[in-house]
Amino acid sequence: MKHELVIVLDFGGQYNQLIARRVREANVYCEVMPYDTPISQLKEKNPKGIIFTGGPSVVYEENAPMVEKELFELGIPILGICYGSQLMGHVLSGEVKKADQREYGKTELTIKSDNPLFDGVTENTTCWMSHTYYISKPPVGFDIIGTTNTCPVAAMANVDKKLYAVQFHPEVNHTPEGTKMLRNFLYNICCCTGDWIMNKLADEQVKLLREKIGDKKVLCALSGGVDSSVAAVMIHKAVGKQLTCIFVDHGLLRKNEGDEVEQIFTEQFDMNLIRVNAQKQFLDKLAGVDDPETKRKIIGEEFIRVFEAEAKKIGKVDYLVQGTIYPDVIESGTKDAAVIKSHHNVGGLPEHVDFKEIIEPLRDLFKDEVRNVGRALDIPEFLVSRQPFPGPGLAIRVIGDITEEKLEILRDADYIFREEIKNAGLDKEIGQYFAVLTNLKSVGVMGDERTYDYTVALRAVSTTDFMTADWSRIPYDVLEKASSRIVNEVKHVNRICYDVTSKPPATIEWE
Ligand code: XMP
Repeated sequence: MKHELVIVLDFGGQYNQLIARRVREANVYCEVMPYDTPISQLKEKNPKGIIFTGGPSVVYEENAPMVEKELFELGIPILGICYGSQLMGHVLSGEVKKADQREYGKTELTIKSDNPLFDGVTENTTCWMSHTYYISKPPVGFDIIGTTNTCPVAAMANVDKKLYAVQFHPEVNHTPEGTKMLRNFLYNICCCTGDWIMNKLADEQVKLLREKIGDKKVLCALSGGVDSSVAAVMIHKAVGKQLTCIFVDHGLLRKNEGDEVEQIFTEQFDMNLIRVNAQKQFLDKLAGVDDPETKRKIIGEEFIRVFEAEAKKIGKVDYLVQGTIYPDVIESGTKDAAVIKSHHNVGGLPEHVDFKEIIEPLRDLFKDEVRNVGRALDIPEFLVSRQPFPGPGLAIRVIGDITEEKLEILRDADYIFREEIKNAGLDKEIGQYFAVLTNLKSVGVMGDERTYDYTVALRAVSTTDFMTADWSRIPYDVLEKASSRIVNEVKHVNRICYDVTSKPPATIEWE
């Protein structure tokens, strides 16, 4: 069946796939394409509309990503976001200027509601800004439909030509009415009917995988996290015991986690699972290393080595499954986006495993979409709603160099914090919560004795997409209980801090 299509034209912003996902959530199929896709190719796709994303460039830079003026003359509705809005202003001969200061964060926005984009949006609303340049004068034919204190053209429209531009980011949660605006663009301006249904995806994927794999052998690196578990169960549903899962225990897992993973997948799902106990091997390689990216690299490489050695014992397989999801792809840097962290699950591939092809069934999905796919596959709720855990594990939560002693302290502190969050019934509403062992030691006093011990930081964030996140307002008494239990029950910890930074500007993990 042919779906209605909206194209997201990628100018290298961090939120590009988030825009795509918002469009899919509004039941409209959507593809992200590079900004320099030839116009003929865009026309061939016959899109109902085009969205220009943000990006790190400035329209006046020599190699700034551009589009041809002709694109605006095809009669296809266009919505420009952030850099995309400035680009529209610039190419259509408006004026783009540099502000004295970067405008960043939640901003009051005043809109005019007598246009299809802002239909039903409140006159004084909030939006998320992140820019230095801005449109100072709209092109001829455009009306200003939104302003902020510092941004004279926070939104503009040429209603007749169906061209719209917003300086802010309607796709992020910090723009509370952003979803409404995007829906308005899709339904009021592009005249979409909404013929794309997300929850068909799981069944369709299982069917496609079964056809593709046939009677061939599949190998999967299972970590026990949501992503690799959903990917593995999906393949297991499709081809059963043709799938073998290798679970590398790198010694950087949370308390009791290795045993739990082994038990769930062998007993509950009856999968072929091989557990490799490689704890010592990883710790030896990590000894004395304190740089976060170096840690990731070492773990990524070592993981592949261990995995390869194990895979060799199995012999030739046809397919290799990876639980890569979209944020892994985008945050590891696409063609135009900046590299924030090199997530090891996209960093490297085993060179010495004899396989024909990689399968990444979740590559286009965000975390909460992956969870929904998991539910559609009848994976038990406790596993599906499990908080994400990074591939490098506790290695990026022990700040600085890693030792078994530090890991032990962190495991115990983290276990207590998670237990208290659960006891308080907060585990469902907080997106990710964990302890971090800082490499800061400070002075304390315990039973008349001076102590000089570690500071543990507690981190809890609410987020739907892990691209942006807000720190969780955990009740003080829950924090107090966790804090006093940790200092009392975990040796060598005498101070607890709670992290009150959002993402951005911080990231969720400390490293
Ligand atoms: P950040 O810290 O970048 O985290 O805000 C966003 C999400 O990604 C997870 N994360 C990782 N996952 N390998 C992974 O598989 C990594 O190296 C890595 N670093 C961060 C993090 O836990 C959060 O869910």
